[in-house]
Amino acid sequence: MQKKTDDELAKFISDGVSKDGKVMMPAYEGKLSDEKTRDLVKYVRELGKK
Ligand code: HEM
Repeated sequence: MQKKTDDELAKFISDGVSKDGKVMMPAYEGKLSDEKTRDLVKYVRELGKK
């Protein structure tokens, strides 16, 4: 996850699909605004630092 860009993580949260097309988690597109998704990317990065 550390190696992924913010854009890749935001996309993953929106559609829940990995690069090879596997559904990994529920898609949050339509449930979260772009801004909220960006905030979550920042939050998930914070968790990774600990
Ligand atoms: C807003 C809430 C959520 C956020 C921000 C979030 C975020 C993430 C992130 C950043 C990843 C890692 C992606 C990667 O490794 O590239 C991930 C993976 C995953 N998430 Fe979520 N997630 C959320 C909700 C959920 C929910 C509700 C579920 C299940 C009901 C779920 C199930 C999973 C699974 C199964 C994976 C894949 C783990 C693996 O790599 O094997 N997520 N999530």
